[in-house]
Amino acid sequence: ITGVVKLPDRTPTKHDIATGRDPDRVKIFDTTLRDGEQSPGASLTADEKMVIARQLAKLGVDVIEAGFPIASEGDFTAVREIAKSVGNRDNPPIICGLARALEKDISRCYEAVKHAAFPRIHTFIATSDLHMAYKLKKTREEVVEITKETVTYARSLCEDVEFSAEDAIRSDPDFLCEVFSAAIEAGATTINVPDTVGYTTPSEFASLIRYLRRNVRGIDDVTISVHGHDDLGMAVANFLSAVENGARQMECTINGIGERAGNASLEEVVMALHVRRQFYNARMGKDNKVDAPLTNIVHKEIHHTSRMVSNLTGMLVQPNKAIVGANAFAHESGIHQDGVLKHRQTYEIMDAQSIGLSENSIVLGKHSGRHAFRTRLVNMGYEVTDEELERAFRRFKELADIKKEVSEADLQSLVNDEVRLV
Ligand code: KIV
Ligand code: ZN
Repeated sequence: ITGVVKLPDRTPTKHDIATGRDPDRVKIFDTTLRDGEQSPGASLTADEKMVIARQLAKLGVDVIEAGFPIASEGDFTAVREIAKSVGNRDNPPIICGLARALEKDISRCYEAVKHAAFPRIHTFIATSDLHMAYKLKKTREEVVEITKETVTYARSLCEDVEFSAEDAIRSDPDFLCEVFSAAIEAGATTINVPDTVGYTTPSEFASLIRYLRRNVRGIDDVTISVHGHDDLGMAVANFLSAVENGARQMECTINGIGERAGNASLEEVVMALHVRRQFYNARMGKDNKVDAPLTNIVHKEIHHTSRMVSNLTGMLVQPNKAIVGANAFAHESGIHQDGVLKHRQTYEIMDAQSIGLSENSIVLGKHSGRHAFRTRLVNMGYEVTDEELERAFRRFKELADIKKEVSEADLQSLVNDEVRLV
């Protein structure tokens, strides 16, 4: 492996020490309850947010961005209650709130998160010429000044301050370095590089992270974070490329929900880092720990968390969605079913059980073969002779030609007069 990017040894944070977290791992910052909730139609009540926050803590995320406290009284209360309860459980995650680079936002945010054992203020300002001219109506100099003042103020309230340069990807890289340097000097402990409009590509993101690491003053003393949207379907690939180049926090959402095409999906980045951990450990120069976990996520909680978020937000998960889609572990074609029944890894790169599903599923349809058909009958309690199997299989194929998927109930009525129940 060439071009390995080794970071200086990371100093454990107070949160790492208190919760026994390995400072070398990639932090998972979950923003389902903030950016995810910004999906059209996905708003959540305070109670629903609490239920999800508890589950996120069980899932092992390092940071929960619980909301945008100045946005509404309801969001303020939800963040405060999550900070009080989830932020003080055993092994608590950091509880974070979002704030524009305005004193009133930052004060309100701190009022909500301060109840957590490990509170964080996340403040942001846009740095692209487009956003500064049309949205903020501010000059570059003014944006640098505001960054210094607001980060200093946030830091006077809270030890843990994250600063985001909104629309970083479309910002002038040298100006971005100036703003991040100012934020670090003012006390930011994490600097976040958002691809606000889902515009970047994996190699471009990699180059930007490398450029920041060379040109931002004090960058080795803070965590580099990435945040990305999926407008071009590249958010997850962009994150993985950023991690290879030195990013150590990824901001994502369950099921990838979020503004427009959504955010980078947590389950995808986490499972990519897990399934390909040897590759990523090697890329990060950890040759002596090639099998070491790269995140703190409890993989078995992934499926349940996905179902919960889908049910509570009403945002359905597409069947072919990686990791958590209904078809992610389903096999229909005869060749694939036969292969998987002989040796799972022929067509599976991860175990369904590893994300908390009870098993993979063999879907019986017109592409299925005898091997899968016989296995299903045996699992249903039928004992079949070769002759019975042939007859039942012929009838099954006729039915599969007219129905997309043949259910167990269909199978039962189809084979009852052909085979004996044991
Ligand atoms: O997409 C974005 O830029 C954001 C920031 C507030 C981090 O959500
Ligand atoms: Zn965002």
